[in-house]
Amino acid sequence: MHLLLIGGGGREHALARALKSSPLTQSLYIAPGNGGTGQYGTNVTLDVTDVEAVRTFCVEREIAMVVIGPEAPLVAGLVDQLNSHADTRHIMTIGPSAAGAQLEGSKAYAKAFMERHGIPTASYLEVTADNLDEGIAHLGSTEAPYVLKADGLAAGKGVLILDDRAEAERELRAMLGGKFGEAGARVVIEQFLSGLEYSVFAITDGHDYQLLPVAKDYKRIGEGDTGLNTGGMGAVSPPPFVDDTLMQKTIDRIVRPTIEGLAKEEIPYKGFVFFGLIEVGGEPYVIEYNCRLGDPETEVILPRLQSDLVELCMSLYDGTLPTHTPEIDPRTAATVMLVSGGYPGSYDKGKAISLPDTVGDSIVFHAGTAQRDGQLVTSGGRVIAVTSFGEGHREAVQQSLDLAEQINFEGKYYRRDIGFDL
Ligand code: AMP
Ligand code: GLY
Repeated sequence: MHLLLIGGGGREHALARALKSSPLTQSLYIAPGNGGTGQYGTNVTLDVTDVEAVRTFCVEREIAMVVIGPEAPLVAGLVDQLNSHADTRHIMTIGPSAAGAQLEGSKAYAKAFMERHGIPTASYLEVTADNLDEGIAHLGSTEAPYVLKADGLAAGKGVLILDDRAEAERELRAMLGGKFGEAGARVVIEQFLSGLEYSVFAITDGHDYQLLPVAKDYKRIGEGDTGLNTGGMGAVSPPPFVDDTLMQKTIDRIVRPTIEGLAKEEIPYKGFVFFGLIEVGGEPYVIEYNCRLGDPETEVILPRLQSDLVELCMSLYDGTLPTHTPEIDPRTAATVMLVSGGYPGSYDKGKAISLPDTVGDSIVFHAGTAQRDGQLVTSGGRVIAVTSFGEGHREAVQQSLDLAEQINFEGKYYRRDIGFDL
């Protein structure tokens, strides 16, 4: 079978590795891929916002399955486009319809969905220019910290958590005034929740689901979870505090009602659901939904998946998902992200990268890398994710740190405390 994988980050390198390891995969194309994905397939230049180009490619290469890594093409409706044309309708697309992707594409949509289905989440108020006064009054009647979220996709930058009410008011006005572009024309003001965050992943055909390993990521740039938010500086799977009791509550109150909600509302969804969760006093709440796998969570959950990922994806299309319970490596996996100096602010690109000759049973996932004239160079903020296994997270993190030291590029930075709070 010929597969097309869309995306070019560490998540897609991990997806490429898992897809390529299936005996069902004859060839794998990655658009655009990165400096590492060529190890498992062929990188192709394809403008994924150009649906015509994607369709032509799929037809010419006889693609049978398209796996979509990032949220933007899903929210833009790539799946619907492929499913609605006669020449690509037969292709198994892995990712939700645009309607399903709204769970990530609109925070207000997600909150209303949770309300309809009784799914626990922070209480909220939706604000636009039309009810700004109500929004200001709401801030006045609640306590700090204030949580403001731009409704639309804002590349992880659309959430502000502020201690000062006057600043919250200013930011609310600025967001509605276009600070995050169209994404902020609608803002969700949310109750602040305090607790440990964790991420649960499901694969669903829109009716049934299977759970993938649980993970926890570390979003802040600085050690001890300080400084600016990033796309993710590391991850651990499984986080030990997510015990059977918390997991059962998460399934009963959040995972199952979400999938049942999608089915009841007849929202086509064949793909991954990422539940961003927080435990408050032993109870699970939804912080956010994503309509895709996480990055860098994928770099710890897929290496633990022992089942054939292509078979699992195919089962979304033949009704056999319930019989495909994933087999999971019981060891802990941890990943440490090596980033460019200056990230998440501005940073240089094009720095030569040197990798060690041997990596033991660790895995080096490329994120922001590119091949230039036979030289591997940096091409993004998050450059390389080093994943290792261990009996617990300390052992796994230590192995990744040992390897991180042997990877070199100018400006390299990484957190040495991934898993510090576990
Ligand atoms: P989101 O993009 O919705 O995941 O928000 C980004 C980050 O902001 C989350 O991972 C949390 O750390 C934090 N956050 C979001 N919503 C809340 C909330 N209601 N209470 C506390 N922290 C939050
Ligand atoms: N690591 C968080 C995300 O992928 O959204």
